[in-house]
Formats: sequence, structure tokens, C-alpha cells
Amino acid sequence: MRVLITGGTGVLGRELAKRLRDRAEVRILTRSHRAEPGFVRGDLETGESLAEAIAGVDAIAHCASAVDYRRPWRDVAQTRRLLEALGDARPHLVYVSIVGADKVPVGFLRAKLESEQVIEASGSAWTVLRATEFHDLILRFLTPMARGPVAVVPRGALLQPVEVGEVADRVAGLVMGPPAGRVRDLGGPQVVPMEELMRTYLKVAGRRRRVLAIPLPGRLGAIAGVGDDLVAADGDRGEMTFEEYLRSRTGVDGSIAHRYSE
Ligand SMILES: NC(=O)c1ccc[n+]([C@@H]2O[C@H](COP(=O)([O-])OP(=O)(O)OC[C@H]3O[C@@H](n4cnc5c(N)ncnc54)[C@H](OP(=O)(O)O)[C@@H]3O)[C@@H](O)[C@H]2O)c1
Repeated sequence: MRVLITGGTGVLGRELAKRLRDRAEVRILTRSHRAEPGFVRGDLETGESLAEAIAGVDAIAHCASAVDYRRPWRDVAQTRRLLEALGDARPHLVYVSIVGADKVPVGFLRAKLESEQVIEASGSAWTVLRATEFHDLILRFLTPMARGPVAVVPRGALLQPVEVGEVADRVAGLVMGPPAGRVRDLGGPQVVPMEELMRTYLKVAGRRRRVLAIPLPGRLGAIAGVGDDLVAADGDRGEMTFEEYLRSRTGVDGSIAHRYSE
């Protein structure tokens, strides 16, 4: 079995590739020049080399994202470009979306929903998994918020961070299995407000700060206003808590290593 992973150099994609390499021939799409075997250069934004990257694959795990919160529709355009490049080929498409995509009227979540819909209407065999936010993303948000004398966080949203390795386990199983349509959502083991996540972060990082939860303007504020819409209420639950994740990423010098900067 041959599998193409778009976004295979990203946080989820790297974990997924590790899990698939023993089970399939893995090809990773990237915009960068990588000399190692298994990487193919291509660009979902321009369409460059996509046809070559796709040739002969049985399944595609579509994990790439432009991560452009100002222009979230770029992800939809990239998904369309991937589908156009397929021509008559019909590999199994596995797409990783976000819990709340159908509920929260924020641009990047709307774009996830639209990408799902584009895939579902494509005529390809497909599987869509919605996951909650990865621990790594929460850490990325919290780190700058904890720099000042008071750690200010948006008030309101309930979050359910999940370990990306557990998401990768699930995606690997889906890629190796038959097309399954929308599968059960996957979230982390705990549903918690942002201020609790901040307190956990400060405790593990060994910093003393007052935590202030306030209504915030802008994108973060809009997300904070969603209540429990980002929670996988009826979904499956992973096992690793945010605190366990932070401790697993803490070095002997007390610093917490970010996967996004690897
Ligand atoms: N992060 C979360 O909390 C979370 C939660 C639920 C679902 N998801 C979804 O899971 C997926 C993976 O998220 P992630 O956080 O692991 O992503 P990430 O680490 O930000 O990685 C983004 C990936 O997209 C690739 N990419 C970006 N633009 C590209 C282009 N024009 N052509 C080809 N590849 C391109 C990058 O590859 P190169 O730079 O090598 O080209 C990189 O591998 C996304 O669809 C995301 O929406 C994320």
C-alpha cells in the first residue's frame, strides 16, 4: 500500500508518518527541498508537482494546512487543488478536521467545514476525522500569554486538548482501513477552561503569576465566546492530560520543548 501524507512535515503529519512507515510505503509532500527518501516536493498553493506526488497512491492523509488565520479560505483552495490533481484516480482520502467546524462561525473553522464538504462531494472514497485542539497548539497560545506579570487569558471557552500522538494513532488506523465517511470525533481526556490550562502550564513551568480570565477582542475573543462548541461531547477520548503532556516535554533545565518549533 502506498500512502501520501500532505502536511507530513507538520506536528500531526510527522507523528502519522512514524506510525505508517512499518505498514505502508509512505510519501511525504513538502514545499521544501528534502534529499531524504520518501519526501516529494510539491505545493498545494500553486499545484506544482502534485500530479507526480499523487501518482500511484492508494490513500492520501490530507494533513496540510496553510495555518493562515487571516486568509483561512486558502485551505479550501488547497484542498480543491489536491482533488483536481487526482484526475481520474480515486485513492482513499483521509482528512483531519476540527471539532466545532460546523458550529463555530470563525473563519478557519468555516474553512475546515468547507474543506470537508469539498472532499465529500468529490466522488473519491473518503474518511473525515474531527479532532480537538492538540496540546501543542495550546502550549503555543499559552507561552506568550504567560510572559507578562499577569497571565491574561480569554474567558469563556471550554477546551479539550488532545495528545497529537493519539490523534496520529487514530488517523493511521483510518488510513489503513476502508473509507468510513465521518467517523467519531476524538478529543482529550479533560474538558477545561483556558484559565485552568494556564494554571497547569505555570505550575509545570515553575512560574508564579496571577491568572486573569477576561473577555478578549478579536479572533481569540471570538473563540472564547463559543462555550462548549469546541468539545467532542459524544466523541472518543484520548488518555494523556495536558499536564502529562507538559511534563513529557520538560527538559532537565525546566524548559518545555515546543513541537511546533522542531
Ligand atoms: N493543531 C491543532 O490543534 C489541530 C486540531 C485539530 C485538527 N487539526 C488539523 O490537523 C492538520 C495538521 O495540523 P498541524 O497542526 O499538524 O499542522 P502544522 O504543524 O502547522 O503543519 C502544516 C503542514 O502543512 C504543510 N503545508 C502548508 N502549506 C503547504 C502547501 N502550500 N503545500 C504543501 N504543504 C503545505 C506544511 O508542509 P511544508 O512546510 O513542509 O511544506 C506542514 O507540514 C490541519 O489540517 C489542522 O487543521 C489541527
